Amino acid sequence: MSSSASSAASALPGAPFVAYGAGQLQVEQVTLSELAQQHGTPLFVYSQASILAALAAYQRGLAGRNALICYAMKANSSLAILRLLADAGCGFDIVSVGELERALAAGATPSKIIFSGIGKTRAEMRRALEVGIGCFNVESMAELDVLNEVAQASGRVAPISIRVNPNVDAKTHPYISTGLRGNKFGIGHEQALQAYRHAASLPGLRVQGIDCHIGSQITDSAPYLEAMDRILDLVTQIEAAGIRIHHIDFGGGLGIDYNGDTPPRADDLWHELLARVDARGFADRQIVIEPGRSLVGNAGVCVTEVLYLKPGEQKNFCIVDAAMNDLPRPALYEAFHRIVPLVEATGAATVYDVVGPVCESGDWLGRDRALNVQAGDRLAVLSAGAYCMSMASNYNTRPRAAEVLVDGAQSRVIRQRETVQDLWRTETP
Ligand code: LLP
Repeated sequence: MSSSASSAASALPGAPFVAYGAGQLQVEQVTLSELAQQHGTPLFVYSQASILAALAAYQRGLAGRNALICYAMKANSSLAILRLLADAGCGFDIVSVGELERALAAGATPSKIIFSGIGKTRAEMRRALEVGIGCFNVESMAELDVLNEVAQASGRVAPISIRVNPNVDAKTHPYISTGLRGNKFGIGHEQALQAYRHAASLPGLRVQGIDCHIGSQITDSAPYLEAMDRILDLVTQIEAAGIRIHHIDFGGGLGIDYNGDTPPRADDLWHELLARVDARGFADRQIVIEPGRSLVGNAGVCVTEVLYLKPGEQKNFCIVDAAMNDLPRPALYEAFHRIVPLVEATGAATVYDVVGPVCESGDWLGRDRALNVQAGDRLAVLSAGAYCMSMASNYNTRPRAAEVLVDGAQSRVIRQRETVQDLWRTETP
């Protein structure tokens, strides 16, 4: 067994920088039991090398291109993660003024920020214009008009793309599928040309590009290729109408391995997609992408302690100190996350539902898991880098967990555990 968790041979599936070294689970070269001892549980731990390796796959795929990787920060918006990605050259895809201020606080370059979302307020538009963001991804005709008004009133011109809904089935969970006609996102493919004509006629707007995002946790390249074909058809039509499309924003959505999933590698996918772009004569256009989960998802684990074992007639429960407020994906999407012990176990296993202390039957982290555990042992919930801390809540008046970033043999706390007093700081009894 290698002592370095970054050795590919011993890495756990779906956790490329997590491995057992001398029977102890490590993130890179840091032992998780030691971090749990020092900082308590539940504790999110992220591997910097894992995030940078995931980014490198995109950078390889887009090498030699005029391209901008805008990290979809909703996946994990902790400042240290944002700073890491900003320092590595990323821009950001934001969906609220809160995310805008967070990105700026982490050192983002405003011109590398794009603003997505169907419900931008006037105040959000004003602030984004004031700091000089790179582009607004506009999602409706009504939004075009409001943005035009806001831009004119502030004496600025808003750079825009129109998010087109290509009506492609991303074949993912219905809650995170966004590119179908019945979804609330984007402007229908059929109305897109008309929307571009309208945008081009408004003095407060400057057409910059085209945008689409068809869903999340996509594990097959076919929907991407279909969406790209449809978008390129539109670019041809829009440019025939005399409106130049400077960039093609192709959204995010690439899946990760949660449970044996086999998404294409980012570099392979982009090799295929760029072949289509080039074949259609658009090789000179800037490519913008908005990956979230695929940059951070497999880089994070959540360490939790077993509080009680509760054998039952129908089910055995393993009750842990992390819950749906920390890890909401199983409760929301019946999502699967691998769960492994921090100390490698060899004896006989029992099948448990791993559940949190929150007062809902929906508060489970894993069902029917074979584990050899005792109260006081610690477990790691894998692939917890995306859409876990960023969706965490204080339900049941539970303070949010602490976060640690690992770099090689070094680790540092990037978010302190909330105190219970923090939770009512803004309230009046
Ligand atoms: N761009 C737009 C406009 C988006 O709406 C999203 C994600 C992304 C990019 C990034 O997608 P990604 O590369 O992360 O798949 N909470 C859910 C996922 C919600 C995704 C929302 N939009 C989950 O835990 O599975």
